[in-house]
Amino acid sequence: MHDETVTTLGQSSADGYDVALRRRRRGDQSVDELIINGVFAMDSADPLSEIALAQALGDQPGRVLVAGLGLGYTARQLLAQGATRLDVIELSQAMIDWARAGLTDVLCQLATDPRVHFHHGDVTELLGRQPGLPGLFGPWDGICLDIDNGPDFLIHSHNAALYSLPGLRQALSHLTPGGRLALWSQGPSKELWFDLVALDPAATEQLVAVDRRNRRIDYAIYTARSPEGRPE
Ligand SMILES: C[S@@+](CC[C@H](N)C(=O)[O-])C[C@H]1O[C@@H](n2cnc3c(N)ncnc32)[C@H](O)[C@@H]1O
Repeated sequence: MHDETVTTLGQSSADGYDVALRRRRRGDQSVDELIINGVFAMDSADPLSEIALAQALGDQPGRVLVAGLGLGYTARQLLAQGATRLDVIELSQAMIDWARAGLTDVLCQLATDPRVHFHHGDVTELLGRQPGLPGLFGPWDGICLDIDNGPDFLIHSHNAALYSLPGLRQALSHLTPGGRLALWSQGPSKELWFDLVALDPAATEQLVAVDRRNRRIDYAIYTARSPEGRPE
């Protein structure tokens, strides 16, 4: 039996946003975890659902907006699927710095891939702007949103706007015709599903089962397509 050791790889409280990247080691096993404002956000133990979020955009996803960075699994999977450019927007500058410093293998891989462009900012503010404005770096063929636990258990209350019907409509308006929006949620959300179906009758909901400490959790991945160019 091995004792567990916990190492803090990075910690920041800049702009009142507390983030910590920790590594838990037991024997030859190690798991990285991200804590945001004192709340567990994610770890690297089983990133199946973060990978499924990227897979929801399909092969050759083109130019993709990824929000936020986290431990980088969604972005890395998009690169593996042949994305031509990733705009990764992240609220914490410290996390972008940690990627550039290569604090974990996945983050290092992103930081050294020329297709990846990091942006420090708030995706609710970015997508709240009108498409086509100067300085905006869209439109995108795909958008992957994993910025919170989902609409029903938010870490940041201001992220609620993005999961509302107007917020979702606005997000779709930043896509190229037929482009796809994919959202991660910590579980199925009826309200989110109804709103997405109202915007796109062909919206999808996929449950991804993950075992966490002998407990099964069903995460949910949602997709909807932009109105123009949708297959009839
Ligand atoms: C659960 S993690 C994302 C996990 C990521 N999909 C992965 O594969 O590792 C959520 C990330 O979103 C960031 N975030 C939260 N609110 C945001 C916002 N409004 N705009 C941009 N990034 C945000 C957090 O700082 C955190 O890095």
